Amino acid sequence: MDGLKRMFANNRAWAAEMTRRSPRFFQDLSELQEPEFLWIGCADSRVPANEIVGMRPGELFVHRNVANIVSHTDFNCLSVIQYAVEALKVRHIIVCGHYGCGGVIAAQKNKRLGLIDNWLRHVQDVQEKYRGVLSPITDEAERQDRLCELNVIEQAVNVCQTTVVQQAWRAGQDLTVHGWIYRLNDGLLHDLGLCVSSDEGLADYYNVTHGIDHWPVPRG
Ligand code: CO
Repeated sequence: MDGLKRMFANNRAWAAEMTRRSPRFFQDLSELQEPEFLWIGCADSRVPANEIVGMRPGELFVHRNVANIVSHTDFNCLSVIQYAVEALKVRHIIVCGHYGCGGVIAAQKNKRLGLIDNWLRHVQDVQEKYRGVLSPITDEAERQDRLCELNVIEQAVNVCQTTVVQQAWRAGQDLTVHGWIYRLNDGLLHDLGLCVSSDEGLADYYNVTHGIDHWPVPRG
């Protein structure tokens, strides 16, 4: 069976199995979505959001792009954040990057790939901001890993600084922003320790002039 036909066959089998387990599953979902989480991740095919955290349809609101970037002028991502926070009232926003990210590596190596170079410029901005941290690392793989982590932190901070999140915090909404990273070669997620629920929390973690005050150490 070719790949496209296989997708339809898989879909029929999946829908039948979900209905067998829970006969009202699709009916209930079609009437309401109440996800508690917004996931902002990389478009990489090896990091399927729902699957790696064992979440069913309806549990995760998802935005993915190359290198999990949150740009202050990207109305696609900003609209997702606004809808998730203001309409769905998610309680957590997770920026999840991954080690071995092709976008991050291309940015680090200053590869010329075409239009996407402009998008990856955001990662190069992170690299330049942390030049002092990254340049002393002589091992290339380790330097790549650190840039993947720093990119998560910077994008999560960008989430915190959006007007939508700032407004939600000002209004006393329960909303926490997290920075996580996924390792392709063992399938495990790690918490980078960024967990911010208020403007004061952000200031504790992050010095706006100099960047992170604490080196991100993967936890768990
Ligand atoms: Co990636």
